[in-house]
Amino acid sequence: MPGSSGSVAALVLAAGRGERLGHALPKAFVPIAGRTLLEHSVRALVRSKAIDWIVPVLAAADLARWQDLSLGSIEGLAPPVAGGAERQHSMRAGLAELPEEIEFVAVHDAARCLVAAEDIRAVVSAARETGAAILGERARDTIKRVVDGKIVETPERAACWAAQTPQVIRRDWLSEAVAAADRKGLLGTDDAQLIEWLGHPVEMVEARFPNPKITRPEDLVLAEAMLAKAAGSTAAANTERDVR
Ligand code: CTP
Ligand code: MG
Repeated sequence: MPGSSGSVAALVLAAGRGERLGHALPKAFVPIAGRTLLEHSVRALVRSKAIDWIVPVLAAADLARWQDLSLGSIEGLAPPVAGGAERQHSMRAGLAELPEEIEFVAVHDAARCLVAAEDIRAVVSAARETGAAILGERARDTIKRVVDGKIVETPERAACWAAQTPQVIRRDWLSEAVAAADRKGLLGTDDAQLIEWLGHPVEMVEARFPNPKITRPEDLVLAEAMLAKAAGSTAAANTERDVR
């Protein structure tokens, strides 16, 4: 069970269908480098040592697949919860299952399975300071706002960022934000948006390592190559240590 004050729980959102990936398996259960996206994400959160409790959120139809994963012995990993039709509903379902003593919630997309432990630590620590912080990266391209096929605005590129996860938020803020969004029938495309609607500030933490969201088939190839490279450098570091 989670520790005492300032406990952080992660909700690992894995209840989407993965339409754009178009794989035979639900996206979270697609393997890369020998492990499913869901397992990679859970392991990254555990590796960060910044998370006390982890709640996986799966589509109801996928709950039985949980048994097939090799995550059984991980301490602080709760049984999976059934998600909903939209990401926000899945997040809400996970939030409802948190132990009372949890004070911060790190919402993470299972599809961001390459997230670095160091970046997780950085965003958790920023949220502890300010109440809400998310990982993100600076926009590489010039961003256009387009309505009916026509550009209506070009926001200053230096001020544009792409939002990633984890998004770490005080539990009381997130609960209040979800209730307010539900009341008004609003659906955010990320968690920070709900907090923005409440009027609380959300800090942007620049990710130091690549943290792509596996979305299309070509992303699997890229992720596989990145994991192979990471495994190679770990093996090289170990060999060096063995030689010394
Ligand atoms: N997600 C969720 N519940 C939903 C929709 C999405 O838990 N109802 C999760 C996904 O499993 C994913 C994350 O939210 O880890 C980000 O969503 P996205 O990348 O869009 O995944 P999918 O919705 O599965 O993919 P697609 O939109 O291509 O169908
Ligand atoms: Mg989706």
